Amino acid sequence: MSRQENVSINASNEIVPFGRPLIDNDEKQAVLDVLNGHVLTHGPKCKEFEHAFESFIGGGHAVTTSSCMASLHLSSLHFGLKPGDEVIVPAQTHVATVHAVELVGATPVFVDCELETGNIDIDIIEGKITDKTKAIFLVHFAGIPVNMERINIIATKHNLIVIEDCALAIGAFYKGKHVGLWGDTGCYSFYPVKHITTGEGGMLVSKNEATAKAIENFRAFSVDRTHNERKLPGVYDVNSVGLNYRMSEIQAAIGCVQLNKIGQILETRRNNFVALKNMLKDLAEFDIILDSKSEDCVNSHYCLIAILSEKLRDKRNEIILELKERGIGCSVYYPKPVPRMDYYARKYKIDSQEFVNAAIISDGSIALPVGPHLGLKEMELIYSAFKEIFV
Ligand SMILES: Cc1ncc(COP(=O)(O)O)c(C=O)c1O
Repeated sequence: MSRQENVSINASNEIVPFGRPLIDNDEKQAVLDVLNGHVLTHGPKCKEFEHAFESFIGGGHAVTTSSCMASLHLSSLHFGLKPGDEVIVPAQTHVATVHAVELVGATPVFVDCELETGNIDIDIIEGKITDKTKAIFLVHFAGIPVNMERINIIATKHNLIVIEDCALAIGAFYKGKHVGLWGDTGCYSFYPVKHITTGEGGMLVSKNEATAKAIENFRAFSVDRTHNERKLPGVYDVNSVGLNYRMSEIQAAIGCVQLNKIGQILETRRNNFVALKNMLKDLAEFDIILDSKSEDCVNSHYCLIAILSEKLRDKRNEIILELKERGIGCSVYYPKPVPRMDYYARKYKIDSQEFVNAAIISDGSIALPVGPHLGLKEMELIYSAFKEIFV
């Protein structure tokens, strides 16, 4: 079936779906191979996926997990963040970045973002650091790398842990080094519409082997030996509390196949992004299209986020509905700055006026699809839809 036929008959009547996992016979066969064997969890496929991931990103020690949220939570637990500690977090991110801090009782200290990239505004960070600050959690917004050199200078000066949320950033590099290898841990997501998928799933990477080993152990109840290491079957000890945040062999088998396609996936995303950006930048109705600001940054092109011109921002939701009517899938990254999300607004009562740029992105932008299920024809359909809406 050609791509065009494929997109025209999907269940939701979308002509241009926002996201679509690319699953074909290779993934199906890989799942069957696991099911035909006897090992369904913490076996060789997880190890194979971890090693393949390390090769792709070019270093680090990788640990499969059940989600990016799990990887972020494991990071908070491993570094001992606790009540009384303050942690710098971006105001504009998926709530998972901040939940990981909140779950261990530490206090998130929100920082506004830059308009051009959506990334944490590094100029503001030092003014928010106190003697209670223990860590910086940041996100590479929609796959656009943060300037990690500047982050690491601040972190070293103030002795802070750095955790990178790379959920949308597989294939994003800063100064030639993959994101997630700059901080203390990097946390990745394999949720269905991400660059690659395992259904649900995540990876944690650390450049420090001891950190990765300790987290690997904690992620599996903190038992002190694997099945293979047990001289007496069933006999093990436990050296601390722990969790079960493991990935299954079925998921890891899908991940291994998906990772083989990552080169092609990233190339299609880049081509779609560049084509759509070139078309949209001629429309006066858009002010800014988020992208890397410097040659040091390789964007992984998760989606294209376009900020509407000031006079159209309060019409954003109507424009999204008009796109939907025309079969164009789109989204919002993210629907509110985290300090405005009900739980955080009630708990911290922070003046949300402080997060001006985060609000412009959450309330006045549209996230458009550039995934590998689409091609240049679909980018033109998106552009044509806007031209019709804006007449
Ligand atoms: C930036 C960011 N971090 C974390 C997550 C959570 O990922 P997961 O569903 O794998 O826990 C998401 C999900 O979209 C995300 O966008």
